[in-house]
Amino acid sequence: MEITNVMEYEKIAKEKLPKMVYDYYASGAEDQWTLQENRNAFSRILFRPRILIDVSEIDVSTTVLGFNISMPIMIAPTAMQKMAHPDGELATARATSAAGTIMTLSSWATCSVEEVASTGPGIRFFQLYVYKDRNVVRQLVKRAEEAGFKAIALTVDTPRLGRRESDIKNRFALPRGLTLKNFEGLDLGKIDKTDDSGLASYVAGQVDQSLSWKDIKWLQSITSLPILVKGVITAEDARIAVEYGAAGIIVSNHGARQLDYVPATIMALEEVVKAVEGRIPVFLDGGVRRGTDVFKALALGASGVFVGRPSLFSLAADGEAGVRKMLQMLRDEFELTMALSGCRSLREISRNHIKTDWDFPHYFPAKL
Ligand code: FNR
Repeated sequence: MEITNVMEYEKIAKEKLPKMVYDYYASGAEDQWTLQENRNAFSRILFRPRILIDVSEIDVSTTVLGFNISMPIMIAPTAMQKMAHPDGELATARATSAAGTIMTLSSWATCSVEEVASTGPGIRFFQLYVYKDRNVVRQLVKRAEEAGFKAIALTVDTPRLGRRESDIKNRFALPRGLTLKNFEGLDLGKIDKTDDSGLASYVAGQVDQSLSWKDIKWLQSITSLPILVKGVITAEDARIAVEYGAAGIIVSNHGARQLDYVPATIMALEEVVKAVEGRIPVFLDGGVRRGTDVFKALALGASGVFVGRPSLFSLAADGEAGVRKMLQMLRDEFELTMALSGCRSLREISRNHIKTDWDFPHYFPAKL
């Protein structure tokens, strides 16, 4: 059957993947309230389209940290992509370069930074988890720099792993033959089976729970790459991130996999944007599945969005071709949304092009 939207890849992936793998990709933390809310919240934002504007030419291109990209839709870091497809992160890297946009490679990738770089040119960011052993971090950041990665996305919402109950039930571990490739030479590449989620045990053993704002300074002292702080969802932290010299903020709740009952990222976005006052760009991830979602995030002040699960599910369904098609569908939908809203370039997308349920509560009587 023909695939006509990004969400359809999930069903195919579910049929194809072993249960342990699908559950790891799909699930959120605990009650998965935030997981649903990341999607639902988009449906509480409606359009105020403008008409009779010449939309025969539409430009969806943009600039992120000074890099020109084809569209404001990028790939979020998601771990262990070879569980989805034998080509893993290499396929994602190729598809993302072909689409002219940015891929963020996870620290916990099943391909190394060097392998991903060897797929050819492309603008790539490296997502960093800070390990207790700072020598490991130093080496890894240096390797990412040398491999041509252009920014570090520092994940700040994971001092411990959120409680993902299906991973506990499934005794999640990396399938035989796969390793966290970036850490292989450091003897930290395996995720063994434990009587819990193997990943939760790994995080408890390796990730530095003492990470704090001063470590942003430390990170700046070991790299000249710009640092994006990934996982900010309050105005307070947004202001501190600016003070500490972050190059940008990613409003993220880790795909609802960490603290449950945090708001949907699209609900948190506006307070972060206001606090930042235009000093650094703000990005969003979480629940983006439609071009209309991308438009809504931009109208609320995001400079771009990242998608996580759509890349995993399209990769599982059809490898590189799947990821290419996923990105193309999001791009086409986004361009159509712009045309139907009367916006010819990203600059023209404004807060006035949408209304939210907090602007107009009477629009949503069922909720009152
Ligand atoms: C993630 N995410 C994530 N984030 C990160 O900083 N490092 C990582 O290694 C991972 N790994 C990971 C694995 C899987 C299976 C998922 C679903 C997510 C979070 C990711 O970067 C992003 O924040 C969310 O995926 C965005 O939400 P959506 O697009 O999946 O709804």
